[in-house]
Amino acid sequence: MSGETFSRALEGTRVLLSGAAGQVGVALRDLMPEGVELLALERSTLDISDADRVTETVAHFRPHWVINAAAYTAVDKAEHEPDLAFAINRDGAANLARAAQSVRARMVHISTDYVFDGRKSCPYTPDDLPNPINVYGESKLAGEIATRDILGDNLLILRTAWVYAPHGRNFLTTMLRLLQERDELRVVEDQVGTPTHAASLAEVILRSISQDLTGTYHWTDAGVASWYDFAIAIQEMAISTGLDVATCRVSPIPTRDYPTPASRPAYTVLDKSAIRERLGHHGTHWRARMEHSRPPLS
Ligand SMILES: NC(=O)c1ccc[n+]([C@@H]2O[C@H](COP(=O)([O-])OP(=O)(O)OC[C@H]3O[C@@H](n4cnc5c(N)ncnc54)[C@H](OP(=O)(O)O)[C@@H]3O)[C@@H](O)[C@H]2O)c1
Repeated sequence: MSGETFSRALEGTRVLLSGAAGQVGVALRDLMPEGVELLALERSTLDISDADRVTETVAHFRPHWVINAAAYTAVDKAEHEPDLAFAINRDGAANLARAAQSVRARMVHISTDYVFDGRKSCPYTPDDLPNPINVYGESKLAGEIATRDILGDNLLILRTAWVYAPHGRNFLTTMLRLLQERDELRVVEDQVGTPTHAASLAEVILRSISQDLTGTYHWTDAGVASWYDFAIAIQEMAISTGLDVATCRVSPIPTRDYPTPASRPAYTVLDKSAIRERLGHHGTHWRARMEHSRPPLS
């Protein structure tokens, strides 16, 4: 299905989007076809942990689809704030699911590669057993379970990984800043996953809705990288754009030399074959995707 065809399929669809100011939320707003009636709500307008407000808002708008792009995403902070992480990632998601159910809407719930423990050495399929190793992953898995219990077949869970966007705070923008500020950067090379542009995830969400896809699927950009590989690619892209960052030495280090409050899974490459087949959409290698939409470099 081409972009134009999925735009046509979505015409007249009412979509309620939570977390509209986040990386994926902004990408969804940017890509939303004109014919969609969109209610895009940032945290200041709709706090998903406020059950009454969620019920009221959904009942009033009566969407066909709810897209939950809201989440507590601070992986390290979650170790010290588990109640807040669960209040948003489990209870907030459940509030949206209950509200969606009451107006017979379907829901897209975005989840994470961090529901897995990272012990595999080949890509995780949607049927692999989750076993999170940090609070963030536990709270996201609890959100999957809670929303599935409520919505059953009317739910699409899309697990993704290593999301970045040209704006906001993420690995890409952080590296671009540090490359300019520092002479040396040490980046972990023994955690492997796939960088994913928020816009390519947004496109897959819209394609999925246009085809009424439900169930649990995985989506990232194509290919595999370590954080070190990702950092080197960012540096090379920055140099090719004329940014003066060639003198910054980027060195690979093991995870044990970069201790963080939250443990991180070593390997979380996701198997995308099921959704690729269902949507007839294969995506792009992460590096080409990044270079295709260069961020504003300064
Ligand atoms: N980022 C990644 O690498 C990554 C990887 C795998 C999966 N995911 C998943 O992808 C989804 C989108 O993530 P993202 O990268 O777009 O994250 P993000 O940029 O941190 O956006 C999340 C948004 O949710 C909002 N939010 C937080 N608590 C809320 C609440 N109680 N009510 C309403 N909104 C609330 C945040 O607002 P404030 O900024 O005001 O708090 C923020 O705008 C999430 O489900 C995340 O778990 C992300």
